[in-house]
Amino acid sequence: MLKAISAVLILLSASLIASGQAANASFDTAAKVFRLDGGGVSYVFGVNQRGELQQLYWGGRLGAADAFPQATALPEWVSFDSSYSNTPQEYAGWGAGLFNEPALKVSFADGNRDLVLHYESHTEQPNGFDVVLKDISRPIFVTLHYAMDPGSGILSRSATIENRGTEPVTVEQAAAASWALPAGRYTLNYLTGRWAGEWTLNQETVHPGARVIESRRGSTGHQANPWFAIQAGDSNEDHGSVWFGALAWSGSWRITVEQDQLDAVRVTGGFNPFDFGYVLHPGERLESPVFYGGYAANGLGGASRLLHRFELEHILPRTSATAGQALPKPRPVIYNSWEATEFKVNEAGQMALAEKAAALGIDRFVMDDGWFGQRKDDHAGLGDWYVNAEKFPHGLKPLIDKVHALGMDFGLWVEPEMVNPDSDLYRKHPDWVLHFPGRPESEQRNQLVLNLARPDVRAYVLGFLDKILTENDIAFLKWDYNRNWSEPGWDQLPAAEQKRVYVEFTRNLYSILAELRQKHPNVEIESCSGGSGRVDLGILRYTDEVWPSDNTDPFDRLTQQDGFTYAYSPQVMMAWVTDSPHWLNKRTTSLEYRMLSSMQGSLGIGANITKWSDEETATAKRLIAAYHQVQPTIVQGNLYRLISPRNGSEFSATQTVRPDKSQSVVFAFIHSTQEGRLFPALKLKGLDPAAEYALSPIQGKTRVGTPEVASGAWWMNHGLDMDTEFRGDFQAAAFRLDRK
Ligand code: GLA
Repeated sequence: MLKAISAVLILLSASLIASGQAANASFDTAAKVFRLDGGGVSYVFGVNQRGELQQLYWGGRLGAADAFPQATALPEWVSFDSSYSNTPQEYAGWGAGLFNEPALKVSFADGNRDLVLHYESHTEQPNGFDVVLKDISRPIFVTLHYAMDPGSGILSRSATIENRGTEPVTVEQAAAASWALPAGRYTLNYLTGRWAGEWTLNQETVHPGARVIESRRGSTGHQANPWFAIQAGDSNEDHGSVWFGALAWSGSWRITVEQDQLDAVRVTGGFNPFDFGYVLHPGERLESPVFYGGYAANGLGGASRLLHRFELEHILPRTSATAGQALPKPRPVIYNSWEATEFKVNEAGQMALAEKAAALGIDRFVMDDGWFGQRKDDHAGLGDWYVNAEKFPHGLKPLIDKVHALGMDFGLWVEPEMVNPDSDLYRKHPDWVLHFPGRPESEQRNQLVLNLARPDVRAYVLGFLDKILTENDIAFLKWDYNRNWSEPGWDQLPAAEQKRVYVEFTRNLYSILAELRQKHPNVEIESCSGGSGRVDLGILRYTDEVWPSDNTDPFDRLTQQDGFTYAYSPQVMMAWVTDSPHWLNKRTTSLEYRMLSSMQGSLGIGANITKWSDEETATAKRLIAAYHQVQPTIVQGNLYRLISPRNGSEFSATQTVRPDKSQSVVFAFIHSTQEGRLFPALKLKGLDPAAEYALSPIQGKTRVGTPEVASGAWWMNHGLDMDTEFRGDFQAAAFRLDRK
């Protein structure tokens, strides 16, 4: 198939980055072939004989001189399967007999619903191209945006759909991108869950037909996350080809993974077409979300390490303190009052918690729900963002000053897009919520969703948040979102236009976050939605961290954190240590076990620390200090999932290695020892085999005879042995290795 041809490749852009990897984007004018190279990846597509944009290759990086002939559409497979359908198009319009998932489906004012997109032109862009497609007869233009990250080879793709005609056109379905894999045997990985049970990794054979993962909820959702990874036949955690992708959209979304009748696989993702209908008036455009896609030759572990680095370097926002830096700063160790006090917050109680938190070595004190309006429980107050005078008679200032005097910065909980019917805001503006006039408004947790798509609601939300941040010295907002949509009407608009809400709500959310960050460039934000109901690469452009689950049980968290890291970096994975027995599972665990479970991510404490004994206080203080020393390695290093806690595993272990291989941290957990089985030798990964590493315990012991210093080769080949007494239920150990 691959054939070197002599056509001159026009090198459009080549930028060198620190790692020495170049991203190239080239267009072979004679063959009409586009080629993108970055990291260890090449992505190639071209214009076929009919004018369609056809995918040609996605995988390991090809030789610089390798070239492709012009794309040839796949043939018709008897009369039932058209060539148009069989050909892996980059962005197929629904028309001409397309039976797989279209990238774009539209209805024209005259009833025509046939759309066939052909190549029109292209322009060079940094690390990529904008390629313009146009319908064969109507002035619908689609610009496909491609940008290849030079370091990771992760490709950003999105589409702009434009109506240059004189009549409105309704977009019924619009993807960000379609990805194609040739016929083969594959395993699909995707993440599902529910409240307090997020981040279940599902692994299943790709079968003929479609697997749809989606949210129809108006936001990302706990139930499925917009991420996928597809493994080639025999790939596993460490070996083999993996193609992966993550959709950067925090509204209703859909990713369809389908294997067609010829065994080829397509992945199409973007706005969820369910109840979608975006009217494009003459001259208007619709921008799709971005769909990121990557390839790793070294298994699921390699795929997640690429994605983590990409998130750290290219997705996560910077504050004024980290502006222009390669990486965002590791998260401060926080204290959060929610599980200790729930809604019963007040000045004296929060001050007492703050004193204790400071004594533990906490960096940031966060006051959760209950401080505003008439918020005594979850029946009232959302929407009324004034300080509750009974609980805080002197406003927030005395508490914030106290927190600062104790050497911590201050964070505050908000839930900006919600309103309780029992609130001044709702009494004044009942029309501000998502609703259909004359129909019931379904409450969940006694609250309704403000229609953030409305300009007045947007102005209100931005206004009160700006005011809180201007009037108080606040370093951090925990931005919560505690229900999904119902009755998604927007009665300000004509009936035919109301479905715009699916796009404009999320766009306004992003623009509020962007504007707040611009006005308050030191402020950091967490995306929380009753746990992980809004975790995706869209919101992570504007938020520094996320809350992975309301479930803080340290044993459940091991599996959740394992699932989480397939898609997201440990840096954004907040993990609190809370009280035992745990409120959800009634499970009793040691403080050491709870601490080590949380130390795998960005550590926080969420227990009622005023009740902790001196011994507990000393343990937490010691482990927080140990965590601070190695935190960049844990949250920004390369993660190796050594033993998965999934599927009832008796043991689990992770290891992180600094990119320069100078330090590594190992965590080991026992669920429940059976038959006296000893913890298996941990064969470490990613170290420099020739360097000497000194091992020191953070918690627990190694087996008698374990060297204090040994080569990377020793730790990787011989492995690390735990103490033979490391047995029992819910046991944990952690070690660090430092290069000599
Ligand atoms: C959500 C969050 C919790 C807490 C409560 C407050 O459930 O996930 O952490 O903030 O809201 O009401």
